[in-house]
Amino acid sequence: MKDNIAICPGSFDPITIGHIDIISRTAKMFSKVIVVVMSNVHKNGGSFTVDERVEMIKKSVAHLPNVEVDHYEGLLADYAEQKKASAIVKGLRAVTDFEYEFQMALTNKKLNPQVETLFLTTSAENMYLSSSVVKQIASMGGDITEFVPAAIHQDIINRLKKG
Ligand code: PNS
Repeated sequence: MKDNIAICPGSFDPITIGHIDIISRTAKMFSKVIVVVMSNVHKNGGSFTVDERVEMIKKSVAHLPNVEVDHYEGLLADYAEQKKASAIVKGLRAVTDFEYEFQMALTNKKLNPQVETLFLTTSAENMYLSSSVVKQIASMGGDITEFVPAAIHQDIINRLKKG
């Protein structure tokens, strides 16, 4: 049978339990999910290198057999075409995410009409969560246990703690 492939793209700097929630729910609906770190965004910023982000994602999705991890430098629409993906799946947190996500979805549809963008509503308990919030808490010595996968908790603390 033909693979029904979904792509979950992002910066993942770093991956949070909010991302894991979206990835696991996508993995239930598609035969294969590719989580891709888009490496051309935040070229000069970002706290973790692309390789570190990929490694952290791999550790965090090891329990999901139909999920692969990759990175790509280029347009998401081109990546989706290369991988013959039928959908780009993203989490939508609140109205603040909407305008930007809507713009990206329409642009990607224009660039690659074969691929649909689907939005999953973020689980209520993750509404407030973002990679930036996690980094801010970790860098100030706060507890991030509930916000990141257990497998990468220490990696994040080791990297971000000050002093
Ligand atoms: O986790 P983020 O930062 O919300 O992810 C945004 C991301 C990486 C999915 C988006 O910036 C992206 O797709 N970048 C790749 C470049 C691209 O295709 N741009 C055109 C679409 S507007």
